[in-house]
Order: sequence, then structure tokens, then C-alpha cells
Amino acid sequence: MTDEELFDGLGRIETREGKERKIKSYVLRNNVLTDKEKETVRRYMPRYGFFFRDAPLDYSSLFPTPRPVIIEIGFGMGDTLREMAVRRPEFNYIGIEVFLQGFVKTLKAIGDDDMDNVRIIRFDAVEVLERMIPEGSVEGFHIFFPDPWPKKRHHKRRLMQLPFMHLLASRLRKGGYIYMVTDWEEYAEEVVQTAQAEPMLGNPFGGFAPPVAWRPVTKFERKGMEKEYTISEIWLERQ
Ligand SMILES: C[S@@+](CC[C@H](N)C(=O)[O-])C[C@H]1O[C@@H](n2cnc3c(N)ncnc32)[C@H](O)[C@@H]1O
Repeated sequence: MTDEELFDGLGRIETREGKERKIKSYVLRNNVLTDKEKETVRRYMPRYGFFFRDAPLDYSSLFPTPRPVIIEIGFGMGDTLREMAVRRPEFNYIGIEVFLQGFVKTLKAIGDDDMDNVRIIRFDAVEVLERMIPEGSVEGFHIFFPDPWPKKRHHKRRLMQLPFMHLLASRLRKGGYIYMVTDWEEYAEEVVQTAQAEPMLGNPFGGFAPPVAWRPVTKFERKGMEKEYTISEIWLERQ
């Protein structure tokens, strides 16, 4: 791949250029890579990353071994994504993240460790799910500490609203799950409520779920715990 193909691909993160995004769930800040980061992209992007295409993804083109697919949305610095992939190697993982530095750091980590069950894409998750992920093809979605957009006028930027939950549900296989964790209680309550309006989703716990043993605690979460925020876990299943 040429440098142009690599960096153009990485820089394009929405298909609706110039048009209104459906959910403005993120704001991009620093979009400039250091020379070291560029080197990481050259070295690892062709194998461990992939680019947006307006066509259904063939998982067998991404992963050497076929396994059920778990998608983590907004993986940040990638710590949980990588640890999960080590702890639960019976799955293949796709990570979606728009934050460039987090994406490249994760690319380096999975490349250095030659992880064959993790692949990542830098693009708007809404578009990736709509255009690339086939219906009924996903085992589970992980959404850990999505941006809470605390101000009321920003609530519309929250990812976990009915249209996105409907999109997630449609991509899950029957019995597949959505696992969300947040330290923003009011957001968590809203998600539990909203899920009731999506007929494809059931909540086996009624309200919040008990903590799942295989989820590692992230740095981000530890900071929240120090501030004594409540951690809410939500587990929904495709009916
Ligand atoms: C508060 S951070 C949490 C990061 C990580 N999950 C953690 O627990 O540390 C939320 C992340 O979601 C990403 N994000 C928000 N909207 C997104 C979207 N539409 N597509 C992909 N990533 C998104 C942001 O860039 C940000 O890195």
C-alpha cells in the first residue's frame, strides 16, 4: 500500500462528508500523527487494520481462523479490547474507534503482539455497522464508557439511543448480546428504559446486570471509582 492510500484511508472517517452526521457522538481534536505513529501505520495497518468500504464485510478475509465475532465500539486506547481478546480467545474481535491516537496505539500493541483475533477500523461506528456489518452476524457488542454527553442539550449526541440500539440489535445473531458499562447513572437508566421499546432486545436482568467476571477494569474506570461514581452494567440480548 502506498503512503497516500494508507493516510487517506485513515483520514476519511465518515462517508457523509459535508453532510449532517446521523449521531454526532464524537468531536475530533488532534488529527496529526508523529513520525513514529506514521511508521506504526505503515507497518501494521495492512495486516491488523482495515478501511471503510460501502460493502458487506467478509469476516474470513480479516481473520485467519473463523470464530464468532465480537465488536467493541469506541475502544479508546484499546486496553480492554486487547485484554478481552487474550482472556476470551475463542472469539474474533473487531474494534471501531475514531480517536486517531488511540487507534494507532492499539494498532501498535496488537501488531507487536501479533494478535490474530483482533482487527480494527478507524471510522464512525454508525456507518460501519450500517454498511459493512451483515445482519444477524455478530455474537456480541461491547460498549464501555461511551461519552456521556452530560449536558441536556447534548443528550442527542449519545450513541445509545433507540435508532442505534435498533441497528445493533439487527446486526446481532439470535441470542447475541449487547454489553454496555458506564459510570454515568442517568445515561444507564435511560438505556435500560429505551431498550424496552426495541422489540428485538430483551433484558434478562430486568434492570442493571451484575458485573461480568471476564471484563478487565480500565484506567478510565479506576479514575471514576476514585471519584466514587457508580458503575452500571447493562446486558441486553437479541430475541
Ligand atoms: C469516553 S471514551 C471511552 C473509551 C474506552 N471504551 C474506555 O473505556 O476507556 C469513548 C470513546 O468512544 C469513541 N466514539 C464515540 N463515538 C464514536 C463513533 N460514532 N464511532 C467510533 N468511536 C466513537 C470516542 O472517540 C472515545 O474514544
